[in-house]
Amino acid sequence: MKVAFYSVHKFEREQLLLINNNKHDFLMLEVALSDATVGLALGCTCICIFVSDKASAVVLKECFSIGIRFIVLRSAGFNHVDVVAAHNLQIKLARVPEYSPYSVAEHSVTLMLALNRQLVHAHNRINELNFSLDGLTGFDMHGKTAGIIGTGKIGRQVARILRGFGCHILAFDVKEDESLVTETNVTYTDLRSLMSRSDIISLHLPLNAETKHIVSRESISWMKKGVMLINTSRGGLINTTDTVGALKSGHIGYFGIDVYEEEDGLFFQDHSQDILQDDVIARLMTFRNVLITSHQAFLTDTALHNIANTTIHNIDCFEQGITSGNELTV
Ligand code: NAI
Repeated sequence: MKVAFYSVHKFEREQLLLINNNKHDFLMLEVALSDATVGLALGCTCICIFVSDKASAVVLKECFSIGIRFIVLRSAGFNHVDVVAAHNLQIKLARVPEYSPYSVAEHSVTLMLALNRQLVHAHNRINELNFSLDGLTGFDMHGKTAGIIGTGKIGRQVARILRGFGCHILAFDVKEDESLVTETNVTYTDLRSLMSRSDIISLHLPLNAETKHIVSRESISWMKKGVMLINTSRGGLINTTDTVGALKSGHIGYFGIDVYEEEDGLFFQDHSQDILQDDVIARLMTFRNVLITSHQAFLTDTALHNIANTTIHNIDCFEQGITSGNELTV
């Protein structure tokens, strides 16, 4: 099958080509999918897209008009695709539902530890021959209460890791997982109770109409003063402007994010020569208790291998007209 890959990054190219082994005909494009770039896929029946590619209803219509019948997502999340519009056009979708929940869970805990023990500041000080410790005091994770919001594939791994540290774990999910309760002694509770009792809150939810801005001025007011808030899921879960206010007042004590609600066009790219236009992220970057990574939680060699493997499998299945089990439906 002839497949146009959009937003191809250096870090993923090698695995994709290696696993494909010239089976399918790949057109590797660095540009993002948009109405201006759809035409580059002319002659292909399938396109393969990344989280930063927006498959809106307009773009999907143009995809269909040039002969695209299959779209393969190199991601688990699919909030960047208008699934209903694709269904109406009879464009088939498949994603990578799971590639390494450990990669994202471990990055979430990396943010927690780096913020707590102020690793970035400590490292920068040492580079300047400042070996003093004043201002670097952290806290024991042991004995603290961690609230996990969303105990699916990633959230449950975060719970397991934090349990290993000796944290008490509270959880909130629309579907409670009894096996997690047995295994890690997690206590399920309602959202408000979790937020008001947790020292650390970590978000592991999909972004949808119900979860958008689950962290807002109101829910922040339920949280403990000095709480640590971590988000490796989707930026839209958090109202960033409200969070900036809570960082200014000291209500939020630590803020670690791998995703940002206005990350499109910013993350995944080198803007070091540009003038930063986003005043909200510019303000976030001024707080010494904020740590931002650029949507890299998934970025491990295991995850990249698994993403490439499932992606090629999904293309194989579309070509053969058989189910991969990874299809996205309405
Ligand atoms: P999952 O589908 O296994 O788990 C999500 C959990 O959220 C489920 O248990 C579900 O019941 C729960 N949930 C859904 N709606 C809810 C609601 N309204 N209230 C309470 N609970 C709700 O998903 P997984 O694999 O754990 O991924 C979580 C998120 O992590 C993804 O949706 C994606 O946005 C993000 N992600 C981020 C990556 C990164 O590199 N930063 C990489 C991969 C995923």
